[in-house]
Amino acid sequence: MADKNEWGSNLSFILAMIGSAVGLGNIWRYPYVLYSNGGGAFYIPYIVAILLMGIPFLILEYGVGYNFKSSFAKAARKINSKCEYLGWFLPVAVFMIMIYYSAILGWDGIYIILSFFKGWGVNPDAFFATTLLHSSESYMGLLDFIPVIAVAMLAGWVIIWFISHRDLEAGLGKVSKILVPALFIIMVIIVIFSLTLPGASIGLAELFNPDWSLLGHFEIWMAAFGQIVFSLSLGMSIAFTYASYTRDDADLITNTISIALANSLFENFAALGVFSILGYMSLQSGTAVSELVTQGTGLVFVVYPTVFNVLGQWAYVLGPLFFLTVYLAGLTSILSTIEPLSFSIQNKFGLSRSKTMTILIIVGACISMIYATAFGGTLLGFVDTFINQIALLFGVIVECIIFAWIFKAEKLIDFLNSKTKTITLGKWWLLIVKYILPIFISIIWIGGMFDVAHSGSFDQLNFTIASAILLLVATLIFTILPAKNPDWDNAEERV
Ligand code: PHE
Repeated sequence: MADKNEWGSNLSFILAMIGSAVGLGNIWRYPYVLYSNGGGAFYIPYIVAILLMGIPFLILEYGVGYNFKSSFAKAARKINSKCEYLGWFLPVAVFMIMIYYSAILGWDGIYIILSFFKGWGVNPDAFFATTLLHSSESYMGLLDFIPVIAVAMLAGWVIIWFISHRDLEAGLGKVSKILVPALFIIMVIIVIFSLTLPGASIGLAELFNPDWSLLGHFEIWMAAFGQIVFSLSLGMSIAFTYASYTRDDADLITNTISIALANSLFENFAALGVFSILGYMSLQSGTAVSELVTQGTGLVFVVYPTVFNVLGQWAYVLGPLFFLTVYLAGLTSILSTIEPLSFSIQNKFGLSRSKTMTILIIVGACISMIYATAFGGTLLGFVDTFINQIALLFGVIVECIIFAWIFKAEKLIDFLNSKTKTITLGKWWLLIVKYILPIFISIIWIGGMFDVAHSGSFDQLNFTIASAILLLVATLIFTILPAKNPDWDNAEERV
């Protein structure tokens, strides 16, 4: 029998990890990144980013997580007691993602229902911004509470609670085994259907049209590395936590390769679907693809409903399927964002998995209600930028240093190689994780900070500072609260 925090099988581990990686980033971010960074030519930096960063870094994160078989905060403390603060930083930052992801999930839940009768009406843009979100860029919007969104978000939290408060295998493990394959199957159906639409080839020609001259530009390399950090959920303490839940026989190198492949397969599939549909729209409306293409909420909640409006009867099939895919992709990702903090709390304070999850979910759901206000959409944009461009990349650098240097990545090589059925690690791996990665990610991080400092509005800067303070204070509280679990200082090592 697996214990409360152990996968029942390697398959559960792999599928849950794919579930975490395959998320909104694969559907609404990747197609746009590919298109706007050289199309076909983008594959070169993309593949380099996977081989040079994605796979080597995931192997490191898994290796250390597996070694400790305990939570991120507990392991960080064991590696060096001065690192405990850093050990709480990432789990708390990832929990902040959970809170705003729940808003997107809520919006999408509403769209699943609307898609059965094209309830967004003839002007999807105005519907999304005004009718649904009451979008307001002023703080006063916080006073305008939107019950429909609150209900949709709470429904999401109930589903999350239902899955997460159970033992790991009975909840997350089982659900991943059903939802992740379902997600891939629905995506395949959507893509096949989209490819048969008139005009699909127009979209695809635009998407893949390679602009080789961009290869010499620094930006597309940054974009590729940024996409891989986000898409593979690298360095977020999630991969670490999932690996710590594995049993003693895991081939972590081969698992990593499978997960990276599945993630890329899914996002490239999504890109085919998105651009075929944009090609169709371009043919119908005479608008150039370049004017239709966008990312994020604009793509999912505005461009897609606009396409469904002109698609006729098929929209009643494709619409619900599409919003369901987004929901499942979001759900399997959001489920991963609570694990690092939950496991760290269980370890330090001796609470059960079920109790910890229940408390965290109630706290998360209450805080998330701030997004069910007219200021919610604007706030979400600010927090998202802060977390993705600043906090997480900082976390990745920190993880790299703690794992590769303080823990010493060398210690893992013999163990990882003894289990592998595919590639074996050598000096090249150490060179990557100790030198190339921290330097590269630091460059992307500094670039992102400049971006926010230069192009952010005054409000955005204020909210970025407020989010940073909140994150740092919450992290501090977890660090200084006295441990209740006598085992807290006993992180066993497996390797
Ligand atoms: N990897 C997810 C995606 O591609 C995003 C994510 C980030 C998920 C952080 C969990 C935690 O959308």
